[in-house]
Amino acid sequence: MLLDAHGVSKSFGAFRALDGADLTVDEGELIGLIGPNGAGKSTFFNCLVGDLPPTGGRITFAGRDVTRATAATHARLGMGRTFQVPATFEDMSVLENVMVGAFLRHPGRHAARDKARQVLEYVGLGAQVEARARSLGTPGRKRLEIARVLATEPKLLLLDEALAGLNPAEVVQAIELVRRIHASGITIVIVEHIMEVIMSLTQRVIVFNQGRIIASGTPREVTEDPAVITAYLGHSLKRGEARPAS
Ligand SMILES: Nc1ncnc2c1ncn2[C@@H]1O[C@H](COP(=O)(O)OP(=O)(O)O)[C@@H](O)[C@H]1O
Ligand SMILES: [Mg+2]
Repeated sequence: MLLDAHGVSKSFGAFRALDGADLTVDEGELIGLIGPNGAGKSTFFNCLVGDLPPTGGRITFAGRDVTRATAATHARLGMGRTFQVPATFEDMSVLENVMVGAFLRHPGRHAARDKARQVLEYVGLGAQVEARARSLGTPGRKRLEIARVLATEPKLLLLDEALAGLNPAEVVQAIELVRRIHASGITIVIVEHIMEVIMSLTQRVIVFNQGRIIASGTPREVTEDPAVITAYLGHSLKRGEARPAS
């Protein structure tokens, strides 16, 4: 077992954003994580990678207890994540952005640059290495975010809406990239709203709602689960009610 998260909770003041989430991930899996906005998916990722200390629960990764470990320790052990809002250095070049990740395992400048170039080629940004990060469009940014993490050579990659904002043709290409990353031997947990992505990539899906896991199973099983349908319906109804009457 690569990752074992048990009873992970996170409170912000009196608000329980995450309420006892369990997740085990075996090496080689590609797991989907879905749920309405505000369900706690990003908070769960934050706890898993050490960006936020959980208020409860236990997380082991590659046989080590990492519940209280720093994000740097997680990265060294081989856990990498993309951010829902890309953490890009806008004024740096695409290459330099990826070198920031590559320095983790290649402290020398030359080796880090070589690694970054190789990863950028791999994600399809080989022609844009010298461009400023700010000049990239959405698909380029999403790829850059993935490249930055791949450069850290993760065993487990957590993708947080890494495909959001792409048009249908770009989504198809991004699915191909995720599939290629997975085929290269990297275990993946992916948060994604686009069901086509979940359906075509994953065998196992975990569904979050209000900080809890309410279902898990194959993509087909969970989309037919009444509790899941209710969670999504309730959400869209609530959003509908929030709109001003016209
Ligand atoms: N740093 C924070 N401080 C206070 N509340 C937060 C913080 N981060 C997230 N939340 C709240 O926790 C809930 C879960 O958020 P999040 O994990 O981002 O959901 P998701 O990624 O599933 O959309 C939301 O209600 C959000 O407003
Ligand atoms: Mg989120």
